[in-house]
Amino acid sequence: MWASAVLLVLLGSFGANALDNGLARTPPMGWLAWERFRCNVNCTADPKNCVSEKLFMEMADRLVEDGYKDAGYEYVNIDDCWMAKQRDANNKLYADPERFPSGIKGLADYIHSKGLKLGIYTAYGNFTCQGYPASGMHLELDAQTFAEWGVDMLKMDGCKQMDRHTMKKGYPQMTKYLNATGRPILFSCSWPDYERGAGIPINYTLVAENCNIWRNYVDIQDSWQSVLSIIDYYAKEQDTLVPVAGPGNFNDPDMLIIGDFSLSVEQAKAQMAMWAILAAPLLMSNDLRTITPEYRDILLNKDVIAISQDNAGIMGKRVLQNGSIEVWTKKLTGIGEFATAILNVGDYGAPINVSIPLVDFGVETFSGVFDIQDVFLQKDYYNYFMDGNFDIEIPPNSVAFLHLYPSDLRKLKKK
Ligand SMILES: *[C@@H]1O[C@H](CO)[C@@H](O)[C@H](O)[C@H]1NC(C)=O
Ligand SMILES: *[C@@H]1O[C@H](CO)[C@@H](O)[C@H](O)[C@H]1NC(C)=O
Ligand SMILES: *[C@@H]1O[C@H](CO)[C@@H](O)[C@H](O)[C@H]1NC(C)=O
Ligand SMILES: *[C@@H]1O[C@H](CO)[C@@H](O)[C@H](O)[C@H]1NC(C)=O
Ligand SMILES: *[C@@H]1O[C@H](CO)[C@@H](O)[C@H](O)[C@H]1NC(C)=O
Repeated sequence: MWASAVLLVLLGSFGANALDNGLARTPPMGWLAWERFRCNVNCTADPKNCVSEKLFMEMADRLVEDGYKDAGYEYVNIDDCWMAKQRDANNKLYADPERFPSGIKGLADYIHSKGLKLGIYTAYGNFTCQGYPASGMHLELDAQTFAEWGVDMLKMDGCKQMDRHTMKKGYPQMTKYLNATGRPILFSCSWPDYERGAGIPINYTLVAENCNIWRNYVDIQDSWQSVLSIIDYYAKEQDTLVPVAGPGNFNDPDMLIIGDFSLSVEQAKAQMAMWAILAAPLLMSNDLRTITPEYRDILLNKDVIAISQDNAGIMGKRVLQNGSIEVWTKKLTGIGEFATAILNVGDYGAPINVSIPLVDFGVETFSGVFDIQDVFLQKDYYNYFMDGNFDIEIPPNSVAFLHLYPSDLRKLKKK
């Protein structure tokens, strides 16, 4: 009782002004086309991978049939390059008719028939990043159009808007127009990243009042280097970013690239663990038709997803950095429970033995003793006291991802 009361007060301090559309109470999960499929629009040359309704329908089928939907992945998100090159006679956006013969409404119906949700993309400014028509002069009309089609999530990018100072007005306008449609539409804003890029101070209070999730930093690319640079950004900015995260509002370090061309299995575990610790949206950008089982297992790991989807929605922090070892900890809803990622970002070609004092985990205890579950290895360790050390061997570019329970409570839960 006592602990949950404190938690409510802590959350309430920010939650009071958070966007109130009932969505993203935990970090949203799904699939997003951009990182893997880009602006491939030539369906003659590449029918299997071009941005078309077929691609999104096939990904929806995979989400349902291969266990992703049951694990919590529910959004199927279109990114740039879905539109026809012009608006129609009534100024409405419409999908390229050759690549989306059913229209977005038809695609939304298909996605909904599978029990999934559809996300779409536009930009603030007159053109999208790839030069397609965008919402700048038509925010209200586009919000209405997306709602009519049955869209459930909107990502609004910002490339072609030259005056980024106007974003503090324009994004909140879109929030109002989305709200006025009466359809709950999860709003993903790229606004803070563009302000950051232009050196404009970011007002995260305002961002959280208007967006469910928001990009803070550059686009992810298909490399471990890219993953590390993103993790590093969140560590450096954690004192600003942790307080704004909570149910309804999440910082977005961009897509999961697990199962793509570059990450090893160990690196993929590290990205998955870190995105769970950061309370980040879990939006995969990969080819679910060809992904191999070892990557699929990482994406479907129930214990990792439970940490990501913890009800309190707290974003974790880097609490220790020592050579190539980083310790990141996130408080969980369960009384006295924490998740800790021990990340080895080094390239020393043998596993490192680390011995970390529990007092350096950034956890608190009332029972004085923890049981620890390694959620990737599915291994349990018992009876760790706060004045003791936790010893573990971690391969290069990998992670030990731990769920800490107060020992006596774990025993009660198991009964
Ligand atoms: C699509 O690719 C085909 C085959 O490579 C090519 O002949 C055609 O010109 C391309 N179409 C466009 C619009 O680029
Ligand atoms: C968008 O187009 C309108 C009308 O043509 C113009 O006034 C406005 O400056 C343009 N905005 C941007 C960001 O280019
Ligand atoms: C619109 O905003 C009001 C007030 O914040 C909120 O109660 C309502 O649920 C919102 N509706 C939608 C569709 O987002
Ligand atoms: C940031 O936005 C909030 C909420 O709209 C506002 O109350 C506050 O004055 C803004 N802060 C600054 C520094 O502009
Ligand atoms: C850093 O790691 C080394 C051994 O790898 C250890 O001796 C040292 O105590 C650690 N420092 C901190 C602050 O944890």
